[in-house]
Amino acid sequence: MTAYLDHAATTPVLPAAARALADQLAAAGNPSSLHASGRAARRVVEESRERLAAVLGARPSEVVWTSGGTEADNLAVKGLAWARRAEDPRRDVVLVSAVEHHAVLDPAAWLGAHDGALVVHLPVDDEGTVRLDALADALDTYGPRVALVSVMLANNEVGTLQPVPDVVALAHARGVPVHSDAVQALGQVPVRFDALGVDALTVTSHKIGGPGGVGALVVGRSTALEPVLHGGGQERGVRSGTLDAALVRGFAVAADEAV
Ligand SMILES: Cc1ncc(COP(=O)(O)O)c(C=O)c1O
Repeated sequence: MTAYLDHAATTPVLPAAARALADQLAAAGNPSSLHASGRAARRVVEESRERLAAVLGARPSEVVWTSGGTEADNLAVKGLAWARRAEDPRRDVVLVSAVEHHAVLDPAAWLGAHDGALVVHLPVDDEGTVRLDALADALDTYGPRVALVSVMLANNEVGTLQPVPDVVALAHARGVPVHSDAVQALGQVPVRFDALGVDALTVTSHKIGGPGGVGALVVGRSTALEPVLHGGGQERGVRSGTLDAALVRGFAVAADEAV
């Protein structure tokens, strides 16, 4: 038997999550359909939303299902940047820590290369902790131009925990929203949307013993967010696409077990 050790890359699916996933895979139904099978699938999606929200200290209506952490990060970075600039065209500056995962760094870089944004990478100290003085300086320097700040909760390479509540305090004092990627933190340290005070929070299933291909962006109802995917208008119009009831159920069960 081989020992699997790289839980930072992905995790084995927990038995309870695998059972929940398999049970649900046997049931057909599009959660957006109005007939009985659709309504049954919708019920599973909404119960899973309640379950994940409870684990994360969020309201069910704040959970937006995605295909994983990468999509949730893209939705947060691009969606916040676009919505903030729509409110005030001066907001063209995106502040991200220099040690973010590429799922944050690359959408920010894309905004810089294709969308006229100025991306500022916040430096970190010897232990990989974002320098709050540099954040304060950047917020002062760019003032009304700052669209958003994105600082992860736990680093995927060295494990550094970031002072996200301090980041939130600095950014919110200037009315700037904060996104945090909690992909590597969930199941390891407490991750509470309400306590952290962030405006958007990324989580993904396959790092906590759930199936791959599903994740979520937790985002406040009053937070303006431009969609990245357009289509059927699912997930309050922010993330179109047919939901997979089996995947979200497997994710919610895993989150319950892992946290
Ligand atoms: C910190 C961090 N963010 C985002 C991701 C991407 O998540 P996903 O694999 O669900 O797309 C990862 C995956 O390695 C990660 O470690």
